[in-house]
Amino acid sequence: MTVNCTLSVSVLSGKGGVGKTNLSLNLSFALHQMGFKTLLMDCDLGLANLDVLLGIAPKDNLQNVLLGETPVSDVLYSVAAGFDVLPAASGVPELSEMKADARALLLSRLEPLLGGYDYVFMDIGAGISEMVQAFAAMTAVRLIVITPEPTSLTDSYAMIKVLHNRHHLRDFLILVNQATSAGEAKRAFEKLAGACRHFLHLEPVLLGHVRQDKKMPEAVRRQMPLLRYAPGSHAAEDIQKMAEALQRSRLAMADYLADRKILRDAPE
Ligand SMILES: Nc1ncnc2c1ncn2[C@@H]1O[C@H](COP(=O)(O)OP(=O)(O)O)[C@@H](O)[C@H]1O
Ligand SMILES: [Mg+2]
Repeated sequence: MTVNCTLSVSVLSGKGGVGKTNLSLNLSFALHQMGFKTLLMDCDLGLANLDVLLGIAPKDNLQNVLLGETPVSDVLYSVAAGFDVLPAASGVPELSEMKADARALLLSRLEPLLGGYDYVFMDIGAGISEMVQAFAAMTAVRLIVITPEPTSLTDSYAMIKVLHNRHHLRDFLILVNQATSAGEAKRAFEKLAGACRHFLHLEPVLLGHVRQDKKMPEAVRRQMPLLRYAPGSHAAEDIQKMAEALQRSRLAMADYLADRKILRDAPE
């Protein structure tokens, strides 16, 4: 696999608390265990909490990179060989409203680093702020996390609609989290896909589902990735399958990825 074939993935949701951070962390971890070099960036600049899930207290973070105080290589936290995390900081309101010039600066600082990875994940805050839209438009694929709850479905539809109407994005991978069964996940996906098909004329793709699993909150309390804490759990099994599905997508997209910048800034 050439270094040009880095797959960038933004992890999004309309509604908060659906599992974005835990799924980004564990998907990254699964891909790392499969032998892929993986970078996970905490891009939830309002409520950053990847560091908490990992039980780490980074000295520097994405904000220091942006302010030019620290080189990006010094901010990376290595969870394991070949699995790096770029932490963010919570409660910095100015940064959650990052303007176009600041984004361009951040991208230029990240750029030299990205080609060294097979996967670059961006864990993005919930909702459809300008900032969320800008991050979502940067990546090669968008992974929308939904749950079977009706509010999650309407909020994720609203998010897809905005990204489609304003940024002309059409490719969305859907991950149904906290499903009680494959059937329930499929029904939730079909509702969302039906609305997207009917009103937006686009066809989201179901990447997979992750079952509701009490091991997940336990792993959070232990501040460990679920795949390390309970690798044999239902949710861990589901996440592993999803990592394999994502790798198949990456291979299928190789030509497209080779021709595109790993992260690209959307025009205003
Ligand atoms: N598959 C699951 N089964 C059970 N609990 C889950 C699952 N996925 C996420 N959770 C719980 O949901 C909560 C929110 O997850 P989090 O990843 O922080 O969401 P977000 O980043 O979308 O706000 C966490 O406390 C986590 O333990
Ligand atoms: Mg989160």
